[in-house]
Amino acid sequence: IQTDIPSLKDTVPFTLGAAFHRGATLGEHAKLINKHYGSVTPGNALKWDATEPAEGRFTFDEGDALVDFATGNGLEFRGHTLVWHSQTPAWVFEGATKEVLLQRVENHIRAVMGRYKGRIGTWDVVNEVIDENQPDGLRRSPWFEITGLDYIRTAFRVAREVDPAATLVFNDYNTEFPRKREAMYKVVKQLRDEGVPIDAVGHQLHVNIEQPPAYFIEDTIERFATLGVEQQVTELDVSVYTDFVSTYPTVPADVLARQGHRYKEIFDVFRRQAAKLSSVTIWGVADDETWLSTFPINRVNAPLPFDDELQAKPAFWGVADPS
Ligand code: XIL
Repeated sequence: IQTDIPSLKDTVPFTLGAAFHRGATLGEHAKLINKHYGSVTPGNALKWDATEPAEGRFTFDEGDALVDFATGNGLEFRGHTLVWHSQTPAWVFEGATKEVLLQRVENHIRAVMGRYKGRIGTWDVVNEVIDENQPDGLRRSPWFEITGLDYIRTAFRVAREVDPAATLVFNDYNTEFPRKREAMYKVVKQLRDEGVPIDAVGHQLHVNIEQPPAYFIEDTIERFATLGVEQQVTELDVSVYTDFVSTYPTVPADVLARQGHRYKEIFDVFRRQAAKLSSVTIWGVADDETWLSTFPINRVNAPLPFDDELQAKPAFWGVADPS
């Protein structure tokens, strides 16, 4: 890795993190994480399908390896995620009455959070539960269809009980778009008013080089600040594609330069709003491994601050260079 560049984490006034997996705890990727980041989030290792593939049968191999790596290197750890509609095995919903499903989520959270109590400081307790196209703003997942809002209430209540010191996060994507922002605001406000222990909202912030405009992001941070809730950016990446360009054989240099400006514009917002933001996590370590090379289609993408060779790109300098 390059030694003649600044540590990204030293250039920002909040905790800076990266999503990772077991392969990234070895060799050059591990060096890159240790130089530039103060926090890590597992991309997949703590999702339900990875931790409890069959009822009551827990598998913590990768989770343990990642938490040990973080502990050994003095990195903070974000747990992702306890309750989601995706990457959740079918058995969870099979034959489930409301009572059964709430018991299953309680058992799951007790086992997974309990194992890492004191070592995982922050948990995405629920992920992507908002749907702004529903009148009540709630996603019609099996969770919702079977329990209404109770799965969210139960998840946060149990999570608080298992590790009272952990920061409990309500995480979602597109929260920088006004309709989604308002739908999430309403639900989070209602639940907190009821006493549901939601400590923080997580803004995933999967954006592209054009959309959404940076002031949307700033408006969202200011809006949630009026709730008095902690805020984190949990999954930032900047796709090089837009509504008008959907593939490149290789990403052109001028597009990477524009992406650098885009990172800078976004981090200018974060620095301005640093008092309202406790952490920013980038969804990956380097462009050699990014979920955006297969989602929503297979294509070359380059959404992160480091390239395929782990070298700093314009995006790196967009993060590192304050105005
Ligand atoms: C992605 C992972 O990065 C991929 O490896 C996996 O195949 C699919 O999930 N929102 C989330 C993350 O909350 O869990 C997703 O992670 C990306 C979108």
